[in-house]
Amino acid sequence: MQFPANRTAWFAEARFGMFIHWGLYAVHGRGEWALSREAWSMDDYRPLAEQFAAEDFDPRAWARLAKAAGMRYLVLTTKHHEGFCLWDSKLCAFNSVNSAAKRDLVAEFVEAVRAEGLKVGLYYSLGDWHNDDWFRGWQGDTAATERFMDYTHGLIEELMTGYGKIDILWYDLPHCYGIEEWRSVELNAKVRARQPHILINNRSWTSEDFATPEQHIASSAKGRLWEACMTLNGHWGYCPSDTAWKNPRSVALKLADCARGCGNLLLNVGPDAAGRIPEAAQDILRSVGQWLERHQEAVLATERCDLPWYLFGPTTKRGNILYCFVKEYYGDELIVGGLTPRVQRARLVGAQRDLSFEQRGRQTIIRGLGAHASDADPVLPVVALELDAPPATDISSHIDGADIFPVLPA
Ligand code: GLC
Repeated sequence: MQFPANRTAWFAEARFGMFIHWGLYAVHGRGEWALSREAWSMDDYRPLAEQFAAEDFDPRAWARLAKAAGMRYLVLTTKHHEGFCLWDSKLCAFNSVNSAAKRDLVAEFVEAVRAEGLKVGLYYSLGDWHNDDWFRGWQGDTAATERFMDYTHGLIEELMTGYGKIDILWYDLPHCYGIEEWRSVELNAKVRARQPHILINNRSWTSEDFATPEQHIASSAKGRLWEACMTLNGHWGYCPSDTAWKNPRSVALKLADCARGCGNLLLNVGPDAAGRIPEAAQDILRSVGQWLERHQEAVLATERCDLPWYLFGPTTKRGNILYCFVKEYYGDELIVGGLTPRVQRARLVGAQRDLSFEQRGRQTIIRGLGAHASDADPVLPVVALELDAPPATDISSHIDGADIFPVLPA
């Protein structure tokens, strides 16, 4: 397969994307697994489509919100495990055109995201509770397996041919069948033949372009593109009773954590059945976007930062600059322990203000942050230390060079 040059460059630098879980589960508002968890019969579930009206669906507004948050791409669940297709499928009648919405939602989404200059990602669940062949094949009916695989390849073909250039194909739920049964290698080769620029995730049992740690940040994935996907409250699908939102500070810390391992954060929202992203989620994303705007230099285009300490918060770096994301400091002072290069300048990034500093032995003492972290930044303060050499630390103890944080025997 001949890949276009720099095919993955945009993704490697994107840092932040919006995941959108939207389907019939938005009608009942109890999460996208309710069909399975609550043992709904399909006869009871299918009519939810009559209530899925999407009357306020405005994908331009979704894309603008993503932009305001500093996100570079969006990934929409075109079909989740429930099997309902958000596009005008010729192979699956259980789709949005036949629902109260009466629209090809994927078409409108793709067009709007592109119009806002962002990248388009399509999520597709391989697992399918609506298709009996998925169950039958799993129980050993080989003819059903073949039918289901043809169906799967056909639906993906529709998505890859009917909507212009697609930037990401995001598979999910390959479980119950193996790589041979999915014919994943053949499937992905067909996808790439249609969409030479596409990036494909690692959830069809092949490794493809990027890893997808879920609800955690695995910055150890060296030498490989990765993207951590996370919920903004505790659910992927719309769930109005779940108000346990992550606050902007916690999202900013997660972004920093991703940046230090050169990965991306795909942060989820779950619109309601009308197509509205909950207000609380919108507010958080806008606030994160303002923070990111103030702190771009510390989050975007940074280099991998494997410094061994992680005391006051995550750190990122570029050249001789070390960025400290300050989770906490005491009084007016931040003391960075063990930094070996000499500091030439200390700056509070968001406020574009110089800070005073002193280096005593292995302590770098930074002053002038203000008495409370909120004085330094309403979301999360970041201190840039401009050094005379690339960031490095020495945290060995003064006693016999022993490590201050000895690794204890297991
Ligand atoms: C989990 C959820 C699934 C969701 C996915 C996103 O696997 O069970 O519903 O789509 O995460 O990565």
